[in-house]
Amino acid sequence: MVAHKRGEMMPEFSDKVVVITGAAGGIGLALTKAFEKLGAIVVSIDREGTKAGGAVQLYGDLSDPDFAANVPHKVIEHNGRIDVLVNNAGIIHRGPVTDSDDEALRASLAVNVEAPFRLCRSAIPLMAEAGGGAIVNVASCWGRRPGPNHALYCMTKAALASLTECMGMDHAHQNIRVNGVCPNEVNTPMLRTGFEMRGMNPDTAIAELNKTVPLGRIAEPDDIADVVVFLASDKARYICGELIEVNGAKVVS
Ligand SMILES: NC(=O)c1ccc[n+]([C@@H]2O[C@H](COP(=O)([O-])OP(=O)(O)OC[C@H]3O[C@@H](n4cnc5c(N)ncnc54)[C@H](O)[C@@H]3O)[C@@H](O)[C@H]2O)c1
Repeated sequence: MVAHKRGEMMPEFSDKVVVITGAAGGIGLALTKAFEKLGAIVVSIDREGTKAGGAVQLYGDLSDPDFAANVPHKVIEHNGRIDVLVNNAGIIHRGPVTDSDDEALRASLAVNVEAPFRLCRSAIPLMAEAGGGAIVNVASCWGRRPGPNHALYCMTKAALASLTECMGMDHAHQNIRVNGVCPNEVNTPMLRTGFEMRGMNPDTAIAELNKTVPLGRIAEPDDIADVVVFLASDKARYICGELIEVNGAKVVS
């Protein structure tokens, strides 16, 4: 813990407990660093435990209903409070419905929709009891408008976007602000492994992709993390039930 001199501003998230799912991934690691820089105690949740940062790490499979539902209770037991929950974990299944088997359907729904649903359902009463909090869900531009050949991903991100808007409305009266970010392409393992699986060099493919973005480049994880931090912060105190596209002006058309 950093000591602060009299009169010096305390970091914005000083001593706040921030729970981040998918913390070992590209955006998750950037989120952990960004919140810790602002004084937060980060609880990282991921099945890839060894890669995650954060003060406390909970390893487990978020597609296990009991694990997901119990995370908020474990955080309260260990850290006493939850100020911010970021539902960031996600998986991408590629292909149209005709290339999507039942296991892909189950896994996509379990990680992208059911886990955030269960985490929120458990966390909201605990946050409400403590006077409020903020939840930020990482959806996708493809959850607002469909992209080609990713039917399960688009469907599940659309469900998460809708859930975000519903919860934002339903829990505002408890002083809980629920918002979402909808990135377009971000330079993370999720994107890069997709290129590798298709036999492409990720760096070359990203250089090509950069040309399709009006701002001149796809997003880096920090570009997304900064918006999540803003939505979780008091600067966004009057934003609730909102979905913010973070896309460098590249809209899905
Ligand atoms: N990268 C992009 O282009 C992009 C674009 C739009 C939205 N997103 C969204 O951003 C979020 C973060 O993605 P990323 O690009 O950092 O991906 P990533 O693959 O780098 O990270 C995802 C993390 O989630 C974890 N995870 C997945 N399933 C899990 C499970 N069952 N239990 C526990 N942990 C699990 C993984 O271990 C991984 O660490 C995702 O929700 C993704 O859909 C990404």
